Amino acid sequence: MKPALQPRWQNNAPRIVITGAKGQLGQDLTVALQALGTVLPLGREHCDLSQPQHLPGVFDELKPDIIINAAAYTAVDRAEDEEALASRVNGTAVGVLAEQALKHQALLVHYSTDYVFDGSKNEAYSETNTPCPINAYGRSKLAGELALQQVAPAHLLLRTCWVYSRHGQNFMNTILRLAQTRPKLQVVNDQWGAPTWTRDIAHTTLKLLQHYQNAPITTAPAELLHVSASGKTSWFDYASLLLRLQSLACPLEPVSSHDYPSRAQRPKNSLLDTTRLETRYGIVLPDWQDSVARCLLT
Ligand SMILES: NC(=O)c1ccc[n+]([C@@H]2O[C@H](COP(=O)([O-])OP(=O)(O)OC[C@H]3O[C@@H](n4cnc5c(N)ncnc54)[C@H](OP(=O)(O)O)[C@@H]3O)[C@@H](O)[C@H]2O)c1
Repeated sequence: MKPALQPRWQNNAPRIVITGAKGQLGQDLTVALQALGTVLPLGREHCDLSQPQHLPGVFDELKPDIIINAAAYTAVDRAEDEEALASRVNGTAVGVLAEQALKHQALLVHYSTDYVFDGSKNEAYSETNTPCPINAYGRSKLAGELALQQVAPAHLLLRTCWVYSRHGQNFMNTILRLAQTRPKLQVVNDQWGAPTWTRDIAHTTLKLLQHYQNAPITTAPAELLHVSASGKTSWFDYASLLLRLQSLACPLEPVSSHDYPSRAQRPKNSLLDTTRLETRYGIVLPDWQDSVARCLLT
């Protein structure tokens, strides 16, 4: 019998295309994955997921061994009014990326969200729980998950939550900005999650890719994994830590989600159970408070 061909993503220096390379996660992936191969970062101007018909031309030219999709429509409230666009970027285009991964025999790494769940569970969500999104963004991300799983034979689907970095739009940067300009801040104290630093997600992605680079060639990954920081908190306690670490004196008032209405409904419980990541790969992300402190030093 002829020996199986080694997949190209197991080469010593795979060609790694990163979409959404200017986003919070995309920027950290662009740095972290240099340790693995040749990184080709693409911004929206080179690879627009709202125009999925143009994607095949981009990938035919770049001939990737690994495709990392860090691009996404992430405006959760706006998605309620732009669901067609959100679902084209987060759903349809991910299906096209999966077709491109199949065509080029590339490994596809894609990121999803706790927002595929409704948040009604009392404990952390595991990979075996059935998704049931309660907003347009969640529905669009779930569409992407399903398209990917149906089409791409080699993939890593990584769900994460409450993402932050020093660059980009996120809760951390918003609270630190507002605390310097407002007399007091109201912060929701009845939603639970684990703030997760993009640098930790990028390093986890690198470790997973290194694992598969060295795995027996018969092992093509088709994995759904929850990737989030250890520990749990509320938005209110997260904001309190941020102000303490930055020595900002702005008073914080805890409020319920009911008193703080937003366009999109949010899950009460965003906690992701990361046992599968730990037992299968030996990877545990740092406690959320440690990562927040380290991030603030960058
Ligand atoms: N942020 C969170 O709290 C959170 C939570 C759970 C999961 N996630 C998931 O984690 C992943 C990374 O999120 P992130 O926080 O890094 O998001 P982000 O900072 O909003 O970055 C998203 C990137 O996607 C790009 N993008 C948007 N529409 C595009 C389009 N039509 N074509 C090409 N690029 C487009 C954006 O480009 P521009 O800069 O040009 O807008 C941006 O660079 C996403 O899959 C997201 O769904 C995020």
